[in-house]
Amino acid sequence: MSSRSIYRTLRPVLSSSVLSSGLGTGHGIKGHVISHLPTIRFLSSDTSSSTTGNRQPENPVRTADGKVISTYWGIPPTKITKPDGSAWKWNCFQPWDSYKPDVSIDVTKHHKPSNFTDKFAYWTVQSLKIPVQLFFQRKHMCHAMLLETVAAVPGMVGGMLLHLKSLRRFEHSGGWIKALLEEAENERMHLMTFIELSQPKWYERAIVFAVQGVFFNAYFLSYVISPKLAHRITGYLEEEAVNSYTEFLNDIDAGKFENSPAPAIAIDYWRLPKDATLRDVVFVIRADEAHHRDINHYASDIQFQGRELKEAPAPIGYH
Ligand SMILES: [Fe+2]
Ligand SMILES: [Fe+2]
Repeated sequence: MSSRSIYRTLRPVLSSSVLSSGLGTGHGIKGHVISHLPTIRFLSSDTSSSTTGNRQPENPVRTADGKVISTYWGIPPTKITKPDGSAWKWNCFQPWDSYKPDVSIDVTKHHKPSNFTDKFAYWTVQSLKIPVQLFFQRKHMCHAMLLETVAAVPGMVGGMLLHLKSLRRFEHSGGWIKALLEEAENERMHLMTFIELSQPKWYERAIVFAVQGVFFNAYFLSYVISPKLAHRITGYLEEEAVNSYTEFLNDIDAGKFENSPAPAIAIDYWRLPKDATLRDVVFVIRADEAHHRDINHYASDIQFQGRELKEAPAPIGYH
């Protein structure tokens, strides 16, 4: 069993032990130690009662700089330590969300457009590519950062619409909601990694603001009208993401772009070695993009066969 699946298996066990005891300390996997501070929160929800006024948690939730945020609700802060004993510093993801990417994936794979919908999707992406290339040229860091702000939208839109469909029709999604939301979260982690290396300028923020407004609505509409077209467009966008990260890697290898140390968030998220570099980060991100390419072309193929997504196994945890 992989460490990722062990984490997933143990997480609910850990949570339920905390629920039943109100006091949890667990030894995680691969040396991670996960502990919850003592709390009465799970024993009683009557925190507003005067009789429970002196039953506040002993250890209030604090910000990183030590300021108390809340003692009222009694939600226990989770303390996780890494195998070397240092603190796990990320609230945005936990050790069980991290993974070792499958970098053996074929990064040259391409879906040949064979019908009108495919061709429409392909040429839409190709025409969007021209202004993007003219604007960024070889400014890889800006390109990657702004690309990720767009790339994290389709998974969230698709996941949200499938979620609503599941509620509306009283039926399962077959795991596709989770798979698409995982993709969106993975893309957002790419962005969180790049902002450790470079900060957007004011006009880049303005571009992202405008592009998000247009792209979210356009993609939402296309997913409502034709999910198979929307997934095909995302499949081709991911193919272009793979290509642009290949150019990024080539320029690092040619010495045209400094191969700086990898940010700490990337080392923890992709379980990279401590001395990992930017090249290692771009390499695993490219592998992620290739996986997104497969998921979206696969989703489109299922629907081209006249089937619904829920009829085929959802690629949950496909990295
Ligand atoms: Fe990405
Ligand atoms: Fe992607």
